[in-house]
Amino acid sequence: MYYETATNDHGLPHDPLKALVAPRPIGWISSLDANGQPNLAPYSFFNLLSTHPAIVGFSSATLKDSQRNIEETGDFVCNFASVNLIDEVNTTSKHVAADVDEFELSGLHQAPSKLIKAPRVKEARAHLECEYLQTLTLPHDEGGMVWSLVLGRVLAVHIDDRYIKEGLVDTLAMEPLTRMGYMDYGVLGGVETRNRP
Ligand SMILES: Cc1cc2nc3c(=O)[nH]c(=O)nc-3n(C[C@H](O)[C@H](O)[C@H](O)COP(=O)(O)O)c2cc1C
Repeated sequence: MYYETATNDHGLPHDPLKALVAPRPIGWISSLDANGQPNLAPYSFFNLLSTHPAIVGFSSATLKDSQRNIEETGDFVCNFASVNLIDEVNTTSKHVAADVDEFELSGLHQAPSKLIKAPRVKEARAHLECEYLQTLTLPHDEGGMVWSLVLGRVLAVHIDDRYIKEGLVDTLAMEPLTRMGYMDYGVLGGVETRNRP
């Protein structure tokens, strides 16, 4: 099949695009609002964009609590979403009022960060403590949805020691939860290794 995005005339019951750029890593973003109220939500338009300096970014479709908090308070944590926490990840995506604490809603616990104010998800297997850098408003059609790319610099990294084997992070053992299209989450099925040519 073939379609053009200007008309989006794919003829399918749901937009196929997110099922094609998949699986996507999930940035499980925790932040605080200006009054110190915690917030937690998954973002799969997310990635590590560079390493030195280490910069991460996630895109918010309309201005949501995470973006607002981060712009107001200046920091956030990317918590590692793993398969065992799928229901907690999913619960924290619920559209709730800004004063609802998604840690409580999903039965998760907070752990303090070392360098920033935003709390970490205690149950997560790794965490990136990030300092807010800037927001890029992505190009959009007039009257259409506005997406913003929120960028942060990774200041500190926490890794559960159980997943470091012979000096290497065993990503497969960490069971990263990924996002695909529709209502689907992805689970990694294996590793293939090649030396660079
Ligand atoms: C796995 C998953 C990934 C998501 N990724 C995004 C995303 O990249 N951008 C976005 O705007 N919403 C995304 N959502 C929806 C948000 O999590 C949802 O709107 C949430 O309520 C936002 O919370 P907040 O207002 O506390 O930031 C995703 C939902 C799920 C379940």
